[in-house]
Amino acid sequence: MDNILGYKNQNVVITGAASGMGAAATALLIEAGANVYALDIGDVTAPVTKALKVNIMDKASIDAALTELPDTIYSLFNCAGVPHPPTPVYETIMINFVGLRYLTEQLLPRICEGGAIISIASTAGMAWRVNLERVQEFLALDGFEAASDWLKAGNELGQQADAYGFSKQCIIVYTMQMAGELAKHHKRINCIAPSPTDSAFMDSLATAGIGKDVTALFCPSNGDFATGADMGNAVVILNSKLAGFISGCNIPVDYGYVAEVTMGQRNNMLEISL
Ligand SMILES: NC(=O)c1ccc[n+]([C@@H]2O[C@H](COP(=O)([O-])OP(=O)(O)OC[C@H]3O[C@@H](n4cnc5c(N)ncnc54)[C@H](O)[C@@H]3O)[C@@H](O)[C@H]2O)c1
Repeated sequence: MDNILGYKNQNVVITGAASGMGAAATALLIEAGANVYALDIGDVTAPVTKALKVNIMDKASIDAALTELPDTIYSLFNCAGVPHPPTPVYETIMINFVGLRYLTEQLLPRICEGGAIISIASTAGMAWRVNLERVQEFLALDGFEAASDWLKAGNELGQQADAYGFSKQCIIVYTMQMAGELAKHHKRINCIAPSPTDSAFMDSLATAGIGKDVTALFCPSNGDFATGADMGNAVVILNSKLAGFISGCNIPVDYGYVAEVTMGQRNNMLEISL
């Protein structure tokens, strides 16, 4: 059973490692024997192999980090993200998706055969189906600057898509779009859709008037808010060799919330579809 997850002595890259889900995943990856390269705008306190200060919405900042990362990478964990509100529209989409995509595509050639990518989407992005056309239009833009310009031009984000929802719809659709091409190279890509999770993210949302009384509406029927570790564990499993045939999936990690909505047992307030 030694090295059952396959991370021992492997290089992994993780964003958002300073807090919440990313910090929990980082702790587990260190325990599993990985060499962890942590990227965050905040201070990473875990004993990682290398911690790099990166602002994920800044291309130059990502480019600088790329020079410090190893040539061969086993897996990438895209955990950094911000809520909107209070984060403004442009910053939200640049951090939650545009920077995530740029980092992912720069690292893709370094990800080895059998390697994997996981990103953190949200149940708030699961109305992707009703907004597919607009999301695909955005994904088709040619590169980081084109996406930034499109956002600065104030284009409509489409249906069921505030800035946060749109950024997460983009992650879900991008994950599915990329799976086929990556499969040809024996690389995997997935994302998870967490239900409300206790973290700094949630505290930040509360400062904008969206407190736990509101977010609790989207909790599972046991009423529980998830912990960072609930999500950290899920992403570590999904990028591990145990999940070696799982790709192209957006996996709700929500104690059955999406299942209940899909079965009509709960109100589908977010227009969720699988
Ligand atoms: N907390 C929830 O209820 C919830 C629910 C669904 C999805 N999510 C998503 O989960 C992910 C992790 O969130 P969390 O709950 O652990 O929150 P968190 O605030 O605890 O962690 C987010 C991390 O991202 C980092 N970060 C923020 N902006 C950055 C930037 N510009 N560049 C680099 N790093 C940056 C922060 O420093 C922090 O370490 C996010 O993508 C979030 O959108 C959260």
